[in-house]
Parts: sequence; structure tokens; C-alpha cells
Amino acid sequence: MTGSMQGKVALVTGGASGIGRAAAIIFAREGASVTIADTSIEPGEAVAQEIRSAGGNAIFVKTDVTCEDDIRKMVAKTVETFGGLDAAFNNAGTSGSFSTAATCTNEEWDRVMDINARSVSLCMKHEIPELLKRGGGGILNTASRAGDSGSPNMYTYITSKHAVVGMTRAAAIDFATRGIRVNALCPGFTYTGMIADAAKGAGLPPLEDVAKLMVPMQRIAEAEEQGEVAVFLCSDRASYITGHAMPVDGGMSATH
Ligand code: NAI
Repeated sequence: MTGSMQGKVALVTGGASGIGRAAAIIFAREGASVTIADTSIEPGEAVAQEIRSAGGNAIFVKTDVTCEDDIRKMVAKTVETFGGLDAAFNNAGTSGSFSTAATCTNEEWDRVMDINARSVSLCMKHEIPELLKRGGGGILNTASRAGDSGSPNMYTYITSKHAVVGMTRAAAIDFATRGIRVNALCPGFTYTGMIADAAKGAGLPPLEDVAKLMVPMQRIAEAEEQGEVAVFLCSDRASYITGHAMPVDGGMSATH
């Protein structure tokens, strides 16, 4: 019995916490050597250490995904350490502040688009040449339910996540005959630091109550439930899936 990522090399941006952390641990469980990339140093190092303590291979590379030079170094360090790259989970993101098309400042637009959208494009730009050297591989970009639908006061976040779905589809088509599959993960409400902060900032009722109203399964996802799908979509087990924006949302997308 071997794991779905046995002998492969994966990198995860935003791997220090939440969905990225869960995915990094599952990549390692499935046999991959893993690079954890994040701005958050101590938690990122801790995820790498946790994987190594369990017998896996992992490194942490401090990376700000808004900085192309950091992304170049993240990919180079991965290839130098593990010999190549087979799978990339471009997942780092921010919730952004609450605004509309009329109130969003230019600074907020640039900040959220840089972290959530431009970063994903820059990551793919530097990952794709390495995947091509291995004859292909899997890229997964974290979008959101907000990549496919709107909701009030989340102008920049929704715009940035629609961009992630768009660039995923475009890249999937461009590289479909060259062995590279590109998909997007569209999580619904998931227990992580980000959603706890966003809910507090919005003055929302407890998330569990929101889930009872909005989610057919009437609960919030665990980060591991996103991580399992992420690793599947990056693995050869998803060999005929590309250009897909996969909702993992307890049925929310079935309601509209
Ligand atoms: P999280 O806050 O636990 O993880 C985000 C990670 O990204 C953190 O470790 C943070 O340090 C890192 N990060 C932020 N800016 C960065 C930068 N410039 N460079 C490198 N790393 C950076 O949150 P979560 O929920 O795990 O978020 C992961 C992805 O999932 C995000 O793209 C988010 O938009 C998306 N998402 C989350 C949902 C949820 O309910 N938690 C729902 C839909 C999408």
C-alpha cells in the first residue's frame, strides 16, 4: 500500500495554519516531501517539525506571496532540497476588510488583489516550468465560494476570488496537453483563524448559528476536510480533472 503522493514533492503556500497546514500534513501522510511557505515563521516551522517528527520530509521557507523574489526562492529551495516539484497548492490568502464598490480604497484593492489573486498567478508562473520538467503535475489554487457568487460588503475578497477561478480555468486550458492539471478549491465556511477573525469583524452571530441558517449540512467544515480534497485534486487520482472549481461547502452551492 502506498500513498497517493508517494515519492512526489509538494509545496503549500499559507501552510502555517488552517487549510494549508491541514493539507501539508495530509500531503506528507500520503508520501510527499513538502515545502511549507508562509510569512508566519514560528507556526510554519512548527508544521514542518510536526511532519518530520512523524517520519516525513518537510521544510519551511519564509515566503511572502506578494513578493515575486520570495516566490522564485520558494520554488528554487524546494527543487534544490527535494529534487523537483510535482504539486503546488497555492492557498495563502486574506479575508480583506468590509467594503463595497463605492467605499473600497485603492490601497485595500491593491492589498487584497495582491495577496489573493496576483500571488496565485506569480506562483503558477514559477511553478509551471518545474512541473513541465517532471512531465506534468497538479496545481490547486484556493478560491472560495466567493469565487462563484456574491455576498454583501465583501467587494475586494469576492473580486479576488473570482479572479482566482478565472486564472485557474485559463491556465488549465493552456497546459491541458502538457500534463499539468490546474484546479481551484472553493471552500465554504471552515474553522480557521481567518474565518474567526472575519466573523468577529463583521459582528456576525456565532458561526455555528450562521451555518444552521446557510449550510445544508448545518455545520462548519474542519480544515482537514478541505485538506483531503486538496491533496486528492493534486494527486494522480484526479488525473482527468482540470479547469474545475470544486465547492467543498456542505451543500451551500446546491442552494442557488
Ligand atoms: P488562515 O488564516 O488559517 O491561513 C492563511 C495563511 O496564509 C496564514 O498562515 C497566513 O500567514 C498566510 N498568509 C497570509 N498572507 C500571506 C502572504 N502574503 N504570504 C504568505 N502567506 C500568507 O486561513 P484559511 O482559512 O486556512 O485560509 C486559507 C485559504 O482559504 C485562503 O485563501 C482563504 O481565502 C480561503 N478560504 C477560507 C475559508 C474559510 O472559511 N476559512 C472559506 C473560503 C476560502
